[in-house]
Amino acid sequence: MKILIVGNGGREHALLWKLKQDAPDAEFFITKGNGGTEALATSLPLDSNEIQALAGWALLEAVDLTVVGPEIPLADGIVDHFSMQGLPIFGPTKLAAEIESSKAFAKGLMQRHGIPTADFSVFEDAALARAHVQEQGAPIVVKASGLAAGKGAIVCETVEEALAAVDEITSSSAFGEAGRQIVIEEFMRGEELSVFALCDGTSLITLMAAQDHKRVGEGDTGPNTGGMGAYAPVSIGTPEVLERVEREVLLPTLEAMEKEHRPFRGILYAGLMLTEEGPKVVEFNCRLGDPEAQVLMPLMESSLLDLLLAVANGRPLRDQPPVRWKAGTAVTTVLASGGYPGDYAKGIPIALPRDLNGTDTVVFHAGTALKEGQLVTCGGRVLAVTAVGADIEEAAGKSLAAAEQIHFDGKTLRRDIGWREVARVDKSVTLTKESVTRA
Ligand code: AMP
Ligand code: GLY
Repeated sequence: MKILIVGNGGREHALLWKLKQDAPDAEFFITKGNGGTEALATSLPLDSNEIQALAGWALLEAVDLTVVGPEIPLADGIVDHFSMQGLPIFGPTKLAAEIESSKAFAKGLMQRHGIPTADFSVFEDAALARAHVQEQGAPIVVKASGLAAGKGAIVCETVEEALAAVDEITSSSAFGEAGRQIVIEEFMRGEELSVFALCDGTSLITLMAAQDHKRVGEGDTGPNTGGMGAYAPVSIGTPEVLERVEREVLLPTLEAMEKEHRPFRGILYAGLMLTEEGPKVVEFNCRLGDPEAQVLMPLMESSLLDLLLAVANGRPLRDQPPVRWKAGTAVTTVLASGGYPGDYAKGIPIALPRDLNGTDTVVFHAGTALKEGQLVTCGGRVLAVTAVGADIEEAAGKSLAAAEQIHFDGKTLRRDIGWREVARVDKSVTLTKESVTRA
């Protein structure tokens, strides 16, 4: 069997690592592999968004399954293109991927179908957006509608900040086309939870809930990033909460997408706020999270490959056996380049001890490359160090201990991944918005 992974970050390394366990004899390929995927897959000299060239190559090689990690090729229609050529591919079509690539569409869909989310308005005109901000007051959330690599949402404490956010999104070249429409939202209070569901268009399997750490600094401070760490499972994602999320959010969304002629096949990622009124959608993504995949993959015991093959070949998920998970908790700590999420240098040598990978620790590579045999940095997020432990404290301790053994100039990490969960299980710790205070 030949399997192609599209993308080359930590999430794709984790997918590759898991699929290789599910099918040790399969032949794996990856688009522009990184320093860690080299041992597992043949690296293609093609980028994840060279859709035509990738499909041409996959046809020649008669690839049995293509799995797409990142949102950009999905939003660009890679699935439509592969499917048209009869190539089995896992992921949503271009129209279905709009649930992530257009916040204006996603919010409209939720409104049309009664799916719980923050109240909102969409504007194309900056003056109207500004007037709306003045009328609503703060706190308020201002977002660019299009894809903005996790940096398109600005939570504003004051009206002045919100007016500045409107100006930044509409006038700054940083947002470009993504900022053509602005979404202004009610501020929601509560704890965030990411829930992932594998979808076949009409039915779904809810996977596990995870929690990301979007801010660059410890105690959730500083600017937003793609994600500095994650853990799963999350104790606030109780079976009752997950059942409610499935009933009130995931299944209605799947049904709504089908009704609007955009059946969703792939992974639906619901970013939720657990508010006093119940779970509400912050955003949808059309793919696995990064770094959430780096904690979900090591916990998944049953075959992921069987599920992806079923969906890619149009077979219903309801005929598949239930997903089995390993006991315990997984924590991943991201090592980023100095300066991230702003500018950072590339090509810095990495000292990575060989014996870090063990039965319960895996180092996933994100922005790394091999240069004349030397592992070097080549991205904002460089590595994600995952550890599985009996509980959150053990997993977080092991992940951090392994992360501390890796060195490169400028290495940036958060040493508090999982702090909310630690505070929940350890009653001697007080949970505040900004920090964890030990009694
Ligand atoms: P998004 O890009 O939509 O996922 O938003 C990024 C982050 O901004 C989220 O993870 C939340 O922490 C925060 N956020 C977005 N929308 C809201 C909202 N309506 N109320 C409160 N926080 C929000
Ligand atoms: N970790 C957040 C994301 O993948 O969008």
